[in-house]
Amino acid sequence: MKKIINIIMLFLVTALPLVSCSKTNKSTEMKSDVKAIVCYFSATGTTADAARRIAEIAGGDIHEIAPAEKYTSTDLDWTDSLSRSYIEMHNRTFRPALKDSVTDLSEYSVVYIGYPNWWNTHPTIISTFIENNNLHGKTIVPFMTSGGSNIINSEKELKEQYPDLSFGEGMLMNGKSDEEIKEWTSKF
Ligand SMILES: Cc1cc2nc3c(=O)[nH]c(=O)nc-3n(C[C@H](O)[C@H](O)[C@H](O)COP(=O)(O)O)c2cc1C
Repeated sequence: MKKIINIIMLFLVTALPLVSCSKTNKSTEMKSDVKAIVCYFSATGTTADAARRIAEIAGGDIHEIAPAEKYTSTDLDWTDSLSRSYIEMHNRTFRPALKDSVTDLSEYSVVYIGYPNWWNTHPTIISTFIENNNLHGKTIVPFMTSGGSNIINSEKELKEQYPDLSFGEGMLMNGKSDEEIKEWTSKF
């Protein structure tokens, strides 16, 4: 009887750690297949907060899509047809300059791109970012914050603007819970 107990004990001490160890390695391997980065433009901080949450929950790196010249509150006055944002958004070929004209995205297969809703679409600086960087072969996942408008029109326009790029399902971040973000990011 004592011999049988000793054999069982020996099995538990030697074999079980091997089983749990192989599981850990496998999940680490799966995660390393997909490397994500969360790139965002934020004029007043809301999208920056959303980007930080996504990076934390999805386990990705983070990069600010910073304009060469920051937007002031006067620039952001959407009621003024002479404001910078109004002018940049009412000529969709406008490409505001970036602080870092190119970003090294070579190691990432998933690129989240976040922005505020401006006139029911993405700010033209998002087009500058997409056109300045090589995003071919990557999954681009848009996300947005807004005063209430949804992301549908922006997603449609991005797909029309860049038919050669591959887009994942976007997300309007307003009021989203950690669970909702987790479920969404787990798709990519
Ligand atoms: C120039 C401008 C235009 C905007 N247009 C819209 C709009 O069409 N629909 C909407 O819901 N919110 C609109 N907003 C509100 C922003 O989308 C919202 O406040 C966003 O969360 C700001 O993000 P940020 O702090 O990252 O810049 C606009 C804001 C600005 C400054």
